[in-house]
Amino acid sequence: MYNGKDQKTITLSTIRELKSRGEKIACLTAYDSTFAYQLDQAGIEIILVGDSLGMVVQGHKTTIPVKVEDMVYHSRIVSSSINHAFLISDMPFMSFYNPDIALENAKKLMQDGGAHMIKLEGNKSQINIIEKLALSDIPVCAHIGLRPQSVNKMGGYKVQGKENKEAENLINEAKRIEESGADILLLECVSSATAKKVCESVNIPIIGIGAGPDVDAQILVLYDILGITPGKLPKFSKNYMNGQNTIQQAIVDYIEEVKTQKYPSEQHSFK
Ligand code: KIV
Repeated sequence: MYNGKDQKTITLSTIRELKSRGEKIACLTAYDSTFAYQLDQAGIEIILVGDSLGMVVQGHKTTIPVKVEDMVYHSRIVSSSINHAFLISDMPFMSFYNPDIALENAKKLMQDGGAHMIKLEGNKSQINIIEKLALSDIPVCAHIGLRPQSVNKMGGYKVQGKENKEAENLINEAKRIEESGADILLLECVSSATAKKVCESVNIPIIGIGAGPDVDAQILVLYDILGITPGKLPKFSKNYMNGQNTIQQAIVDYIEEVKTQKYPSEQHSFK
């Protein structure tokens, strides 16, 4: 069984190292200090304070109402109890609409929230923003594929990269994003074949959620793996509390399944 007890502090260099030796990287979201502590103790490598907190903590229907202040608050309470994991915090809707605003808000997430890296949902029109942040030595994770902040523009939560043209666009986007200085790429709800091609087209580590088995890292929403999110789980998610007595064990099982590549199986991936 995977044992996170000997785990060292995870940095961007550790993440690159894990990728270069082909070891899968286990990531989960967290929004508070107690769960963050549990994840850190279990040996999770990356914790994301996602703006999914708008839905799973605040009860909104989408992530759009989440404010920078919410992200700073949740990042701060998560960062207070982690000793090993690398902490990424989301830039919420409209918090990066120009490079100066993006810099100001990224500064808040890092200085007041304790984030090690910021994540932004972007496409090629955000290249100048990624460049500005990268030039200021702010580590950036760019989130492409399904972008929940753009759900109204995208016309719903749909799998991306199924058609050839869409796949080509995603690959080009990923290349431009890497060139602009992003350190990590996150792919959400992308067909497995396209996600694999994106991985082969760039060198930076790729985190996937609903992006199949070939990406470097897997992330899920913590409350989904604990089976406490109301309603039906997304196809790519898995309830690790099934047949389990403790939350700690469910988290360890998730990490082990990512490491041994048992998760995600075909059942959790999109064609
Ligand atoms: O906000 C979030 O939790 C995310 C993950 C779903 C990747 O962006």
